[in-house]
Amino acid sequence: MERTFLMVKPDGVQRGLIGEIVKRFEQKGFQLVGAKLIQVTAELAERHYEEHKGKDFYDRLVDFITSGPVFAMVWEGDQVVALSRAMIGKTSALDAAPGTIRSDYAIHTNYNLIHGSDSPESAQREIANFFAEHELLNYSKVI
Ligand code: CMP
Repeated sequence: MERTFLMVKPDGVQRGLIGEIVKRFEQKGFQLVGAKLIQVTAELAERHYEEHKGKDFYDRLVDFITSGPVFAMVWEGDQVVALSRAMIGKTSALDAAPGTIRSDYAIHTNYNLIHGSDSPESAQREIANFFAEHELLNYSKVI
């Protein structure tokens, strides 16, 4: 079963949007297998955003993601990586399609509420950055 890493960023936590965001993925039918509210350290931020190192927005990105608590999650389901990216919407709120999380709730590219892994390979790497194996649960849905 495919897994992805999703993270409500500090702007989403401060605006009280954790519940709304979680609700969307629950209602879609994905299964939550791990979650925690954490303060991202500079070291973890640098590992998570490794691919953006050197870009003009990198320092701003690291400052922002370490500025307050984030809600880190692992979700499971068929095609969860691609489908959750579609639900999140494009990086810029201007380009995000109506009905996506970023279109509905975000204005700025820097403060775009949520991160979602862009491939199954990135998901594996990002999940391992944020979660220990014992923090991820296996359970069957009974309803
Ligand atoms: P995310 O896709 O979660 O990870 C990289 C983040 O960099 C992205 O969200 C944006 O919040 C931020 N960012 C800021 N400026 C840019 C930009 N010009 N292009 C892409 N990402 C940007």
